[in-house]
Amino acid sequence: MSAGPARGGPASVRIRGGRPEEAAAIARVMRAAVLGQRGRYPERLLAAWARLPALYHRWAMTAGGERYLVAVRGGRLIGYAAWRAGELTALFVRPAEAGRGLGAKLLARIEAEAVAGGARRLRMVAAPGVAAYYAARGWRRGRPVRSPLPGGGALPAVRMTKSGRKP
Ligand SMILES: CC(C)(COP(=O)(O)OP(=O)(O)OC[C@H]1O[C@@H](n2cnc3c(N)ncnc32)[C@H](O)[C@@H]1OP(=O)(O)O)[C@@H](O)C(=O)NCCC(=O)NCCS
Repeated sequence: MSAGPARGGPASVRIRGGRPEEAAAIARVMRAAVLGQRGRYPERLLAAWARLPALYHRWAMTAGGERYLVAVRGGRLIGYAAWRAGELTALFVRPAEAGRGLGAKLLARIEAEAVAGGARRLRMVAAPGVAAYYAARGWRRGRPVRSPLPGGGALPAVRMTKSGRKP
């Protein structure tokens, strides 16, 4: 699985810490990824989910204490993930970049950071359409939960956990 052409190629992908001034670009990636889920969820839920403003990410990266990782290629932000206190809070990849292993790479990096930060049990609230993606990567489904959406309403979601210990 590869996140792009070989290192040094014109389109190599770099994963690094996100910065508050990248909040608008992060919001655009999230919006594109959410709207790329058309057909998996009712339209009104997607519209409400996609409304998370850049300000949220700016706040999360500063006062909110979340750690963001961004994937950048040729100066363009193409995916990101975030965590705080053992909880994965976001994983989004631009639809045009999907299926090349970038999501898996971001997820592995976030998990490794959270474990290195002392988490014994990793947690997240996963959207129903993506729970199988995490289950295939060692996460276990827990109880259902309703996740409030930035534009109103709530997404029926599921809590998921993963042991932070090495197998
Ligand atoms: C889910 C997501 C992060 C995956 O990123 P990605 O870079 O395309 O994933 P990878 O390349 O690592 O993995 C691709 C594999 O996962 C599978 N996959 C992708 N999305 C999936 C989903 N929603 N459910 C189950 N499997 C999925 C693909 O079919 C592919 O399978 P294969 O390797 O057998 O061919 C990305 O599609 C995304 O941003 N989705 C929308 C936003 C979202 O729901 N995020 C989670 C919020 S809780």
